[in-house]
Amino acid sequence: MDNGFARRKLLGILSASWLAQACYAVTRLGVPDLLASGPRSAADLAAATGAQPLVLRRLLRALGGAGVFRRTAEGYELTAVGALLRADAAGSLRDTALMDGEEVYRAFAEIMHTVHSGRPAFEAVYGKPFYEYLAGDPAAAATFHAAMGGAGVPASWRDCDLAGVGTLVDVGGGSGALLAQTLADHPELRGVLFDLPAALESAGSVLAGVADRVRLVEGSFFDTVPAGADAYVLSRVLHNWTDERAAALLGVVREAMPVGARLFVLEEFAPDDDGPVGAGLVDLLMLVTVEGYDRTGSEYRNLLVDNGFTVVESRPGGRPGVEGLIEAVRSA
Ligand SMILES: C[S@@+](CC[C@H](N)C(=O)[O-])C[C@H]1O[C@@H](n2cnc3c(N)ncnc32)[C@H](O)[C@@H]1O
Repeated sequence: MDNGFARRKLLGILSASWLAQACYAVTRLGVPDLLASGPRSAADLAAATGAQPLVLRRLLRALGGAGVFRRTAEGYELTAVGALLRADAAGSLRDTALMDGEEVYRAFAEIMHTVHSGRPAFEAVYGKPFYEYLAGDPAAAATFHAAMGGAGVPASWRDCDLAGVGTLVDVGGGSGALLAQTLADHPELRGVLFDLPAALESAGSVLAGVADRVRLVEGSFFDTVPAGADAYVLSRVLHNWTDERAAALLGVVREAMPVGARLFVLEEFAPDDDGPVGAGLVDLLMLVTVEGYDRTGSEYRNLLVDNGFTVVESRPGGRPGVEGLIEAVRSA
């Protein structure tokens, strides 16, 4: 690699947060939604959003260079990439842009706190753990749960054979996106969405299409989980927690499970070695925001075995950013 290319690559990495914050700013202003029906001038967008016209033009120009907007004779329009910042886009990243631009960005600014203390920088910035903060800030909670729900349901889960499962409990299921898709895919299935109150706030609209087959239960999975169901799913939950805390919540889930009930764990598996480019980003996010970490497939399997489960099946997601699936049952 020649020195010029290496410099450009590193400068791209070093300035990535500038573009992310520019994306955040235009999203916070609602610009992507204003461009839904076609191109508009920067001056027109500035008038509609209350932004300084010259500032907005400079943001749009920078993001144009990054492929988020495109300049046309009539002004700026969304590219396919920028269209994902619209609230109504399939797989919208609007709420991710907002969360990343606010809480996540501030936490990353204090990454040296994590480096020296081993604790999430988030707690140093906001004075409390991530989920306690969400409990006290309904707007941030709504943004977080919408961002999580926008991620879509991994193929490893949609391909899963749920024949014989009457009731499925989604433990830490957020506002119900996975359950809504799963109940739509399996018309005979009934579901229970279990999470903290802040997550269930927005569940009503997410689950509206399957409301007659779903029950919402508030609580902490460190205390209790609805008992007696045929199957339980923990999607992107275990990676939020240390091994000790994960053991505690797995113990509560295990106690709630009848003999023969199935537990499904959906998580992105960290690579066994340094892995392909792109791996490790969510683990960085875990590092500064919560106390957990992304584990390899064998680390997740060991976590289950060490906590009284027998692993029945394990399938990796196949590429970075896609969750794999582990199925387990209670050990005798
Ligand atoms: C990373 S999110 C994953 C949400 C969802 N399962 C998904 O895959 O999109 C973790 C979830 O765990 C929930 N959670 C955190 N602490 C909890 C607790 N003590 N009891 C129940 N749920 C909790 C959060 O509210 C959040 O919905």
